[in-house]
Amino acid sequence: MIALLVFLHLVAAITWMGGMAFILFAMRPAALAMLQAPTRPRFILATLQRFFPLVWLSIGVILLTGLIIMLQVGFAQAPIGWHAMFGIGLVMMLVFAHIFFAPYRRARRAAAMQDWPATARGLEQIHPLVILNFTLGWLAIAAALFWH
Ligand code: HEM
Repeated sequence: MIALLVFLHLVAAITWMGGMAFILFAMRPAALAMLQAPTRPRFILATLQRFFPLVWLSIGVILLTGLIIMLQVGFAQAPIGWHAMFGIGLVMMLVFAHIFFAPYRRARRAAAMQDWPATARGLEQIHPLVILNFTLGWLAIAAALFWH
């Protein structure tokens, strides 16, 4: 049972982390190199509209499976690295919620009004926050693996 929960936990974490790696190192640089406004912000927004529901789903699965494992083992018995993962994971989730409800929402509203410079501005504000979450994700993984 625990093995299945860890598996689902990893599926969700890898989906979220892999998506961020693809966006940061492949999709975004390719869009900057090959596309101009208004196609560029429209394309980036269209990819995020498809990826973000997956992130919400991943967050739900990560939180649920992680908490069930923690409760079964007992918070007091859990290694310090698991607590660190929990804390870092919660920060990542708050950062994503901020991305979703602030710059991403602004970008979508601007796109609905065909205001492409404002759409691009909103999308640019998402970029450093994704770098932050990608870094935090690796710290959470390192904490779980190396900090006992
Ligand atoms: C936010 C709430 C989170 C909680 C409560 C949580 C909790 C846990 C627990 C209890 C385990 C089981 C470890 C084991 O059985 O060995 C685990 C494993 C793991 N988690 Fe999380 N986690 C959370 C977030 C994250 C995030 C955000 C990531 C990555 C981005 C992540 C990556 C991993 C990895 C790679 C493992 C496997 C480590 C191992 O098997 O030693 N977790 N997590």
